[in-house]
Amino acid sequence: MTSKDYLAFIVEQIHSTVVATVDSDGLPVTCVIDMMYADDNGLYFLTAKGKNFYQRLKDKGYLALSGKKGEDTMSCTAVSVRGKVREIRQDMLALLFEKNPYMLEIYPTDESRKALTVFQIYEGSGEWFDLSKKPIERDSFTFGGAENKESGYFVTDSCIACSSCLTDCPQSCIDLTDKAVIRQKNCLHCGNCATICPVGAVVKR
Ligand SMILES: Cc1cc2nc3c(=O)[nH]c(=O)nc-3n(C[C@H](O)[C@H](O)[C@H](O)COP(=O)(O)O)c2cc1C
Repeated sequence: MTSKDYLAFIVEQIHSTVVATVDSDGLPVTCVIDMMYADDNGLYFLTAKGKNFYQRLKDKGYLALSGKKGEDTMSCTAVSVRGKVREIRQDMLALLFEKNPYMLEIYPTDESRKALTVFQIYEGSGEWFDLSKKPIERDSFTFGGAENKESGYFVTDSCIACSSCLTDCPQSCIDLTDKAVIRQKNCLHCGNCATICPVGAVVKR
């Protein structure tokens, strides 16, 4: 899936997400926010200017969010995003109401919508984690020009192909040829392979 597909999944399949911001004391605050639209330029939501949430967004210009789809843990897919956020032009408000007509029940009149404003998450990175697949599947993505930083565990050329890491991997996602290779898309990042490796050949990035 592309980053655009992941953002569309958040809007269409998850919709109500848990958003983390930081308050004026530097402490984390979470609240539930609907992600209402996605396009090539990012992810969009609305809020009211009177909310503390609005102030936290304006103060820091940064947020993190998570959402999940699924009945229980083993049938669940989760997506997380963190990135830069900005208040944008208000003509997007009509589009967000058109795409999310239930908003008319919450803010029924033009007058009642005066306090509303639109934010765009315009640059960021994200993670996809699917526990419904066996082995688990994960992916990472970026959008808006954010740098794609590789993370997880990687086997270096110091590997002696002893196979110790294979038995401790809970998802059996290490292949052994002339050296061990971790299938990144199936890795839990538990770190067992790095702990067991007798020559320190597994590094965390
Ligand atoms: C399902 C659900 C969806 C919500 N969506 C939004 C939203 O899109 N925008 C918003 O401003 N508040 C939304 N809220 C309300 C916020 O979660 C609530 O106003 C927030 O916690 C207020 O935070 P604050 O007091 O720190 O400003 C939603 C609440 C629920 C239960």
